[in-house]
Amino acid sequence: MGPEDLAQILKDLPIPKNPKVLVGLETSDDAGVYQLSDEVALVQTVDFFPPIVDDPFTFGQIAAANALSDVYAMGGKPLTALNLVAFPIKTLPPSILKDILRGGLSKMEEAEVALIGGHTLEDPEIKYGLSVTGIIHPGKILTNTGAKPGDQLVLTKPIGTGIIATALKGGMASEEAVSRMVKSMASLNKMASMWMQTFDAHACTDITGFGFIGHALEMVLGSQVGMIIRSKEIPVFPEALEYSKLGLVPGGARSNRDFFSCRVEVLSDIPEVLLDLFYDPQTSGGLLISLPSDRAGELVETLKKEENIDSAIIGSVVAEPRGKIQIL
Ligand code: CO
Ligand code: CO
Ligand code: CO
Repeated sequence: MGPEDLAQILKDLPIPKNPKVLVGLETSDDAGVYQLSDEVALVQTVDFFPPIVDDPFTFGQIAAANALSDVYAMGGKPLTALNLVAFPIKTLPPSILKDILRGGLSKMEEAEVALIGGHTLEDPEIKYGLSVTGIIHPGKILTNTGAKPGDQLVLTKPIGTGIIATALKGGMASEEAVSRMVKSMASLNKMASMWMQTFDAHACTDITGFGFIGHALEMVLGSQVGMIIRSKEIPVFPEALEYSKLGLVPGGARSNRDFFSCRVEVLSDIPEVLLDLFYDPQTSGGLLISLPSDRAGELVETLKKEENIDSAIIGSVVAEPRGKIQIL
């Protein structure tokens, strides 16, 4: 069973129509949105996973940044969070759990999100994450469905965290690579989300488990458009390319490639190892933003100048071929 099969099970559920549900399961969007009034809608999401780094505090930060990201990807403002914890309380010292929770809390503080509860269960494998609730104006929701032909695409974090994490597990990753990856995964998409709204974004999603291509395809299919991606413009962790050459590619990248490559046309001579990167499942990845072409440059410049975020224009939205990604 692959990622698309899991998504299909959700889509096949007989979920009753509810007019207050503004964003549900149909469009593979990052968070659900439920209308409360003309001015306010709830935006809700949940995410948790096992540790990808050894340091408990850092793992907590990454898991929280990742969970919050789905609210930012919709253009929402997260307000409250609940901890979700699985922990082997009989075999590991409670100080580890405390450090994980402290890490998560540090990101909630940065996000100005109030922790208001949670649930812990005993489990042989550590898992941590958050359920996050935020608000959004019902007329300003950014989904996968709003990309328009002529738009440019901006990506706000480099690609390759899955490959570096695989190298780390195998004891092959350099200290530098790991610290670069950790810094990227632990950083919030908060400011990128704020600025994309200032620059009239049409659509947005964050890059996570389905990899760059998988999430770009969610937008392609949701918006019924095509995309031209310029492979040389996509920011990647330099070490990820190295490790990819050594074959340190996670199984998730392979299954993403199996599922999504039927909608991808590679039009130039791109090394296989770079293609692996484009399918690499990301943890707490950046935002992929579709916005008017005359605003894209300004967004990239502003993110650098105001927030020291390195983003890049990596391609454009086209009308045809619809449902496809062409990589140059
Ligand atoms: Co997401
Ligand atoms: Co998610
Ligand atoms: Co997505």
